[in-house]
Amino acid sequence: MKVLITGANGQVGKSLQLAGNNTDHQIFAFTRNKFDLLNLKQMQTVLHNVSPKIVINTAAWTNVDGAETNIEEAFAVNEKGTGDLAKLCAQKNIILIHISTDYVYDGTSKSQWNETEKAKPQTVYGRSKLAGEQAIKNSSASHLILRTAWVYSAFGTNFLKTMLRLAKERDEISVVCDQIGCPTYAPHLATGIMQIVQAIDKKPQQQYRETFCLAGTGQVSWAGFAKEIFQQSSKCKQPSAKVLSIASSDYPTTAKRPQNSVLDCNLIYKKFGVTLPHYNQGIAECLQGIYS
Ligand SMILES: NC(=O)c1ccc[n+]([C@@H]2O[C@H](COP(=O)([O-])OP(=O)(O)OC[C@H]3O[C@@H](n4cnc5c(N)ncnc54)[C@H](OP(=O)(O)O)[C@@H]3O)[C@@H](O)[C@H]2O)c1
Repeated sequence: MKVLITGANGQVGKSLQLAGNNTDHQIFAFTRNKFDLLNLKQMQTVLHNVSPKIVINTAAWTNVDGAETNIEEAFAVNEKGTGDLAKLCAQKNIILIHISTDYVYDGTSKSQWNETEKAKPQTVYGRSKLAGEQAIKNSSASHLILRTAWVYSAFGTNFLKTMLRLAKERDEISVVCDQIGCPTYAPHLATGIMQIVQAIDKKPQQQYRETFCLAGTGQVSWAGFAKEIFQQSSKCKQPSAKVLSIASSDYPTTAKRPQNSVLDCNLIYKKFGVTLPHYNQGIAECLQGIYS
């Protein structure tokens, strides 16, 4: 089956290419310059030429703080561009797998977030991603929306890599301890998505119109995550630092972060048998990828 991946330079995009290349599917991965969500004509031409059965859309405006002051730009990509892609998929009978975010929730719940919970984003990024979900739902495209969270990998910029960089410069690092979530190793997410692709391949005519949560197993605060990163990093004689737990109020950010981002991923397990490994395993694999 032909699978087209957007956002091929991103953490999830790169991981999907690697995971996809281990399957029998034909993978076509496009970076922003070859498949720009803001360029309808270009998307049309590529989809016509490649004629994929599935498009996996990882492309997005992902600068959470930057979105607060670049509202139009964030919505242009995350809402309009996503909606245009969905309409093209509908026209060409392509199934769209779209990556969304925990930021669609307001983070105030004491329990895990599931798909039935009301989305109430607190940031421009979260609102633009929710608007993108809605644009897909408003199209007639067969689609699966996957809400993930706290993505890290050996690629690009992410929390794990920031911690390792800071540990080379400092002995102690202050990290917030009152925001919790499910760290998700991008290659684990990619493998999970490829399992879904396999399932679709078995029923290619089925119509999909569903939203799922899909994140790494285990929940932890940013401080707890940092401690685990350094515990594992020091074992392989790589940078490590003492983590000082601080409150969010002591680390103000332009965009407010959700206090509780923990996602309940039971539905996707029931529907597709997909469950992602624990974040500790992701840290181990990620450190191995970076340092070997
Ligand atoms: N990172 C997280 O913690 C996290 C958490 C929850 C959900 N998500 C979602 O997961 C998906 C993948 O995230 P990621 O971490 O892989 O992000 P990423 O590393 O920032 O990659 C996003 C990619 O999108 C591309 N892009 C931006 N604007 C585009 C446009 N107009 N047309 C085509 N491509 C465009 C970027 O291209 P350039 O390389 O040229 O800039 C980049 O390669 C996104 O939908 C994001 O919202 C991420």
